[in-house]
Formats: sequence, C-alpha cells, structure tokens
Amino acid sequence: MVIFGASGDLTHRLLFPALYNLCRTGLIPQPLAIVGVDIVGQSVDDWRQSLRKMLESFVNNPNSENSIDAVDEGVWQRLTTRMTYVQGDFSDRGLFEKLRLHLHDVARDCQTAGNCLFYLAVADRFFGPLVEQLGHAGLLDEELRDGVPQRWRRVVIEKPFGHSIDSARELNTRIRRDLREEQIFRIDHFLGKETVQNILVLRFANGIFEPLWDRDHIDHVQITAAETVGVETRGRFYERTGALRDMVPNHLFQLLAMIGMEPPNSFNADAVRAKKTELLQAIHPISPENAVRGQYGSGTVLGRPVPGYRQEPNVAPDSGTETYVALKLGIDNWRWAGVPFYLRTGKHLTARTTEIAVQFRRAPYALFRETPVERLPPNILTLRIQPDEGLSVSFNAKRPGSEIEIDGVAMDFSYREYFGPLAAVGYETLIYDCLIGDAILFQRADTVEAAWCAVQRVIDYWAREPAKEFPNYAAGSAGPDAAAQLLARDGRAWSPIRAEHPHKALRP
Ligand SMILES: NC(=O)c1ccc[n+]([C@@H]2O[C@H](COP(=O)([O-])OP(=O)(O)OC[C@H]3O[C@@H](n4cnc5c(N)ncnc54)[C@H](OP(=O)(O)O)[C@@H]3O)[C@@H](O)[C@H]2O)c1
Repeated sequence: MVIFGASGDLTHRLLFPALYNLCRTGLIPQPLAIVGVDIVGQSVDDWRQSLRKMLESFVNNPNSENSIDAVDEGVWQRLTTRMTYVQGDFSDRGLFEKLRLHLHDVARDCQTAGNCLFYLAVADRFFGPLVEQLGHAGLLDEELRDGVPQRWRRVVIEKPFGHSIDSARELNTRIRRDLREEQIFRIDHFLGKETVQNILVLRFANGIFEPLWDRDHIDHVQITAAETVGVETRGRFYERTGALRDMVPNHLFQLLAMIGMEPPNSFNADAVRAKKTELLQAIHPISPENAVRGQYGSGTVLGRPVPGYRQEPNVAPDSGTETYVALKLGIDNWRWAGVPFYLRTGKHLTARTTEIAVQFRRAPYALFRETPVERLPPNILTLRIQPDEGLSVSFNAKRPGSEIEIDGVAMDFSYREYFGPLAAVGYETLIYDCLIGDAILFQRADTVEAAWCAVQRVIDYWAREPAKEFPNYAAGSAGPDAAAQLLARDGRAWSPIRAEHPHKALRP
C-alpha cells in the first residue's frame, strides 16, 4: 500500500488507525508493506513515531468512536516492520523513478507479488497529475490473463471528485487515460459506516419493508446531516466549496441512492452501482425554488458562544458561501413519482446527527372517535447513521387505561446496545475492500457525474445570484426559516434535529 500524503492529516487521523484496527482483527492480508510518500523530509522512524503518537491519542479517549484500551505491541510490530518512507515532490518525475525502483525491491523483499494499492491522500489538485506520473512511470500496468489481473494495480481517490459537472468529467477523462475503471476506487467515507451498509441489508434481506417501499405507501423521505461544529480551521477550503458541494452530490446522494435504488440482481459491485447510478440519473433537475441556502451568524452551540461564519479565520467578512443547504427533490421513476425527498445539511446546528426518516402515508381513516386522523402521529422509520447508529420505527399504541387514548411510541434498535461497541474510525471496511478488490462501496465515473448533473443548476444559479440575506440562521439553531417554509408549503415539517433516540423524545 503506497500512501501519497503520508505526513498529512487524513493518513494520521484515519488511514493509519484504520489499518491498525484491521490488523488487530486479523483482516490485513499478510504480507502487507506500507510505503509512505510525502514532501516532508523525515526518516521512516520519525514517520512511525508520529503515527504512534496519533494512535496513543485514541487510548481511553471517551470523545472518540475509536477509543481503544491500549496500543497492542504485537499488532504494532506486525504493521510497522514493513514500513518504508520515500521523500519527494509529486511534481518531480524523478520521484516516480525512485519509487518504481523502491517498489521493485519491496515486492522482492516482502513477497507482495507486485500488487500495489496507491492511496492518494492528497489535495484534489494532485489527483490528475499523480495518476499521470504513475502511468508515465509504468506503475499502473497490470498483468492481465483472460482479463483478470495476475498482478494488480489500484488507485484510491479521495474526495472532492470535481467541483462541478465539467470538472468531474474532465477528471474522469484524465485519469482513465492511464487506468481502467476497475482500477479506480473513488472513496466516499460515509459508505464506510455500518448503518449505511445496513440500509441495503434492511431493504433487501427483510420481507417486511420492500412491499411498502414505494409511492403508494411512503409519503416522503427526509435526509439530514447536521453538524455542531463550524468550519473550524478549514475556512480557506470551505470558502471555495460551501455546504452544497461539500456534502450533497457525495454523502447525501449516496444515502439517497441506497434508500431509493431498485433491487440489484446480485451483490456484485457493478450490479449495485448500476442501480445506484440509475436512481441518481432519475433525479429531476433541482430548481432554485426548491433549494434553500443559509449561513450561520453568531450564537450558542452546546452551551458555548461561537462567532458567525464571516468572523471565522480565513473567511471573507462579506462571504457569500453557504454553510447550510436544504433541498426538495423528486425522482422520475415508477417507484418514486410524486414522493418528495427533502435533504438538509449544515454546520453549527442544534445537534450532531445524520439520519434518514422515511415517513409512511397515514392510515386512511381513524376509527377512534374524537381522534381525527390528522392528529395521529405518522409512522416513521428512522435510520440513524451517526452518532448513535441504529434504527427505530414509530407507531401508535393505546395508552393503558379505560379511556381510548392514543400515543406515539417507538421500537428501537441500537447497534451499540445490541452488538456492543466496535472501535473504528470508519475507513476500515473501505480499505479492506480496496485490498480485496471489492468496489461495491466506491463510486463509478457515471455515478459521480449523475450526482453533479442533478445539482449543477442550483450551483449555477447561486453563483449568478449572490445571497442577500446572509447570515440567516443563528449558530445553534435548526437552520434558516426558509428551510422550514420549504416543507410547510407542502403541509409538512422537518423532524427535530436531535442527537438522542427518538423513543426517548416520544416518551411522555
Ligand atoms: N483530513 C480529513 O479529515 C479528510 C477527510 C476526508 C477526506 N479528506 C481528503 O483527503 C485528502 C488529504 O487531506 P489531508 O487533510 O490529509 O491533507 P494534508 O494534511 O494537507 O496532507 C497532504 C500531505 O501531502 C503533502 N504534500 C503537499 N504538496 C505536496 C507535493 N507537491 N509533493 C509531495 N507532498 C506534498 C503535504 O505536505 P505539506 O503539509 O508540507 O504541504 C501533506 O503532508 C484531501 O483530498 C481531502 O479532501 C481529508
């Protein structure tokens, strides 16, 4: 595994801890050699030490989902004895010649059979040039026998994959000059989460949900990714990106695709990815009237006063960048025609939560005197992606007593309570899948392009018509009023943004 950007934040905080967790659970194929490549001048021992320091920060850390008891010395040794470090500048051809010779030695000494996973943990401006450099040095050549690689070469590409439909197409064209589509693993780390993968199991391994999964039974779907953090130190990056580009065509649309896709013929990567792509291609182009943007002003988040977005470091004092977006979209196919999907994401909101709420149509008629059907809470299936992974179903029940009184209750399943905690940073499954060559959780070129296509109209409109009313929501609130109106005009309302189980909130 060759990591470009070996000294960077992603490698330290997520990639290496994920490799450690995989090694601990026996899921690293032996022998694995890890080669770090970065401009930072340091020895392999310095690199090991900085990775070790990061790993130590997870020990008994109650604030991390990756809290571990101790660094296991056996695991550490297994993972780090075959580590090497190559220093150089990505723009220097000489670096790739040096790397070619180095990988030749690594293949011989570590018996890796010449298989290579190149992980581009670098800023997106390097994705195209790095692939070209690797291709030019002959490092992407595979030995194919009957179309099956005997010695494989794969490239993992981080997000963001383009900034618009044009730049995504351009990047796809550029990297496919040197790579077959099967060699490309475009990562979206949301797909590494257990609950996201569980969406397919929930839908296609149970008989009870799929018959209800259509426009006849579902009233609408809400997808929420709410953060309590602001832009922190990422002002420069965020100013160019904004909430729509940062979250919607990738993370939120991946959730949408999982919830809305047709059943695939098999769990083969291409069968699943084809169905996800079809769903994204069926999104009706989103019109600007169905898109709300917001930017946080100062406020109080989790009891702490925070400044507004325009006062954050490296942010323009009159910035027009959105930190919140809400969209209403429709899907033009037989299953979903007429069912609105409402998506929202934002920074500095009331609580940190990512969830999908599938709201079913109401019972057609309430038999209970003095309980009009509009007063019965609707049935909602909520899939909690984070932080408290699980799902719940809400329904109506009779309150004990001689009077007929109806109350909304919920059945709840919590991953942590049922299966016990599993230390993970969220990259474990993704890295493992790259190593075994399973592309099911990675985005294909057409999937990425379909996603950008769906949002391009809004991106263009917002670029032409700068927002006049920013800031338009207080940090620590549920977002701008216009987002509430987006649903109110359809006679609906957003689910409250809350971090705890819905059943706790429902209990009187
Ligand atoms: N960090 C995260 O939590 C996170 C999460 C999801 C996705 N990602 C994505 O992952 C990628 C990496 O992010 P990151 O936060 O790890 O970035 P980063 O901390 O800047 O790491 C990149 C590394 O590459 C080095 N580098 C820069 N220019 C170079 C050159 N010309 N030649 C050789 N090395 C060079 C940097 O060295 P210098 O520091 O000296 O420039 C740095 O060590 C990005 O695409 C990002 O969008 C990151």
